[in-house]
Amino acid sequence: MADMDGFREANNFGLGKAVEQQNFHVKGAANLSWGMKDRLSRIFNPKTGKSVMLACDHGFIMGPTSGLERIDLSIVPLIEYADCLMCTRGVLQAVIPPTTNKPICLRSDAGSTILTNLNDNVVIDIQDAVRMNVSAMAVMVAAGDENFEAKTVANLYKAVDMGARYGIPVMGVTAVGKTMARDARYFSLATRVCAENGANIVKSYYCDGFEKIVAGCPVPVVIAGGKKLPEKEALELCYKAINAGAAGVDMGRNVFQSEAPVAMIKAVYAVVHENYTAEQAYEMFNDLK
Ligand code: R5P
Repeated sequence: MADMDGFREANNFGLGKAVEQQNFHVKGAANLSWGMKDRLSRIFNPKTGKSVMLACDHGFIMGPTSGLERIDLSIVPLIEYADCLMCTRGVLQAVIPPTTNKPICLRSDAGSTILTNLNDNVVIDIQDAVRMNVSAMAVMVAAGDENFEAKTVANLYKAVDMGARYGIPVMGVTAVGKTMARDARYFSLATRVCAENGANIVKSYYCDGFEKIVAGCPVPVVIAGGKKLPEKEALELCYKAINAGAAGVDMGRNVFQSEAPVAMIKAVYAVVHENYTAEQAYEMFNDLK
């Protein structure tokens, strides 16, 4: 590891300057293979370069959390409004109709409810990911956590190596724990660690200084929504993230726990792809609900 003594705070992000040599709509992907680009293009709309990913992988750690008791009733009707569905292998095979024809970002590390065993060096068999025709594999990285960082980075590395063989991109999911800071410094570190270890997409959280997180990450950053907020606040979060350079959202609870999930995902879509402000999107939500 580099000697951290004399560490100099990063402050030259070239904010406002476009990244050069981007003849592909997904950041950092211009030099990837055709298969990788095809899969990334299924997730990120080639016209906007952005994506609305619908996350419903919570149950592999939380059990049947509110809104995910019956995925056939709550999530399946929302899939048509999302660009991509993020879920686990169990739910995909048991509940999601293959006829939805949406790209799948498959949660590819192992979930467990006991934190000391979390993600203990287990990643899905790549052949099963290929059989399920997934468009990306998602693996969590607990940067800065002395118990889990090495194991989770190893998981990511394994997934990146396997994905490279078959042209399947990998999304690094930055972990947040009770003891972890949720600031730009932490997420800059965590997103960069994911990207430098080979992730093609990184999921992070919005925080002040988010534009620096995006600028310092050579691949697209999408945001999780986090715990349920009032719809207006969730749309503001979404707007601020997109405005600061996020390539989209990978949102769960703020959609499926909404009082009107279809109206909410349509409003989120409008912010991500159609330049709606948070106010316009909230108005749309109220009109549709
Ligand atoms: C976290 O590890 C999971 O991948 C969730 O899918 C993620 O947190 C997004 O869901 P939410 O918007 O509910 O936070």
